[in-house]
Amino acid sequence: MATLNKIVIIGGGVMGQGIARVVAATGTDVILIDRDLSLAHKAYDEISDKLDKEIERWGITESEKKAILARISPAGDYKPAKQAPMVIEAIQEDLEAKKLLLAHLDNICQPGTILVSNTSTLSITELAASTSRPDCVIGLHFLNPVHKVPLVEIVRGLKTSEKTVESIKEFASILNKTPVMVHEYPGYVTTRIIVPFLNEAMHVLMEGIASAEDIDSAMKLGFGFNMGPLSLADMMGLDEVMSWMENLLHELSEHKYNPCPLLRKMVRAGQLGVKTGQGFFKYDAEGNRIKEGE
Ligand code: NAI
Repeated sequence: MATLNKIVIIGGGVMGQGIARVVAATGTDVILIDRDLSLAHKAYDEISDKLDKEIERWGITESEKKAILARISPAGDYKPAKQAPMVIEAIQEDLEAKKLLLAHLDNICQPGTILVSNTSTLSITELAASTSRPDCVIGLHFLNPVHKVPLVEIVRGLKTSEKTVESIKEFASILNKTPVMVHEYPGYVTTRIIVPFLNEAMHVLMEGIASAEDIDSAMKLGFGFNMGPLSLADMMGLDEVMSWMENLLHELSEHKYNPCPLLRKMVRAGQLGVKTGQGFFKYDAEGNRIKEGE
């Protein structure tokens, strides 16, 4: 793989921020691009705030924070992609938007540049078909929170080359992530299995069987999960979770992927979880849970 001294990440939301942080922590420069410069700066500031929270918990030191932030540069247009050996897209889960972006990147990037998608459910083959370099297009599915989850799914499209796969395996190992190789199929392994679990928890809540708090406690204590399903959905972003379900439903036509009506209602109301301060639970501006009565 060409030396990775700089990579470009497009989309400064939950995942783009997380990926930027782990890549920068390995000493690689990151250009973090969003739709405009102010959004890119907002993403940078949010990374800084999250690092501060970890300093408070003694998770990292002030100098580690400085070293990470020094390697991340926000940008409001795609020009930096022209010289990057690798571009990772982490914009929202929308097939047409991702295809448009990849087609544009294909036009402006150097011939050998690898185009990576962090999509959770979409077809890499279909995304790759919007470019003239399907051999250089690959899925690298990080999970949230990126710095904590030791796994990545490497998803190859039908035309992804062996060379691209090898480069991405090497990249995953630089990031200290364990890769699992996945043949393209809607939802890969992780999303496919977690989505019906989250959906079922939402149905249990909607049917009034238990409170959100008790559903999460039951699954955490009963099965040893670190987080309950409703907190997990809040952290992932309820709009994202709903898009994954709709994509799986569309591809596989299986009722189990039909988003719970409660989820649809919450997304329509803009209650998207941690990122908006309200989901199944309430959160402060720093993303900490606000317990009932506080
Ligand atoms: P998000 O909604 O938090 O962030 C998306 C960001 O992309 C926003 O900042 C938006 O302004 C920006 N954006 C949109 N269109 C753009 C464009 N054309 N150019 C530049 N920036 C653009 O989304 P999130 O949750 O970070 O998800 C991103 C991707 O990662 C999706 O494909 C999702 O399926 C995947 N993913 C999400 C996980 C999660 O837990 N949220 C876990 C694993 C993968």
